[in-house]
Amino acid sequence: MGFNIAIDGPAGAGKSTIARRAAKELGFVYVDTGAMYRAMGLHILRNQIPREDEQAVAKACQDVKVSIAYESGEQQVYLNGENVSGEIRREEVGNVTSVISAYPKVREKLLHLQRNLAEKEDVIMDGRDIGTCVLPHAPLKLYLTASVRTRANRRYQELTQKGMDCDLEAICEDIAARDERDMNRAASPLRQAEDAVLLESSELGIEEVTSLVVGYAKERMRKGQE
Ligand code: DC
Repeated sequence: MGFNIAIDGPAGAGKSTIARRAAKELGFVYVDTGAMYRAMGLHILRNQIPREDEQAVAKACQDVKVSIAYESGEQQVYLNGENVSGEIRREEVGNVTSVISAYPKVREKLLHLQRNLAEKEDVIMDGRDIGTCVLPHAPLKLYLTASVRTRANRRYQELTQKGMDCDLEAICEDIAARDERDMNRAASPLRQAEDAVLLESSELGIEEVTSLVVGYAKERMRKGQE
């Protein structure tokens, strides 16, 4: 069994940036579970399956193969053998994914893949239900969050730096709608596990949050060895 660190939190809280950096410092494997859900979302989008049709989505996901591999330490996601790591980042894919990830059949399919990875390796896994459902016995659980406004501002900066035209208010609304869906769905909703450490990052920078995470991890690993 690997040493498992679970990081959950809402969209845009900086989970992947922090988890990737902390994994590097700790020599852990970073597992981005959102990317796996996004691969499913992309499949639904490509096949023009109505996202609201739970049965059709579940059926379409049944025979899909989602897998991950690591290239130069970076997680790559494959959809039926095709590397889709770039394409899954489109906003449109994120929006479909937020709807279809509420369906239990979609979640079941990815749960095994996620648990298998954590079984074999020391992982930092991020998502929405890692501490509450995927790895309920993880020795370290973190809940990383920030206000909607802060998260929207960060996303806005990121997109404008890439030269993309975007609207801050639209981003704010999009993030609030995603929170609403992720937190209020029946299957594995986003919530802070009772034993998770809360990290409110609105006033903290990436370096500060990363060193907090690395500090907690080292402390828990030390305790585990005592
Ligand atoms: O973290 P992300 O934005 O890449 O995730 C995309 C969507 O996938 C998000 O709206 C919620 C869903 N998701 C989930 O339901 N459970 C996870 N463990 C990870 C992501």
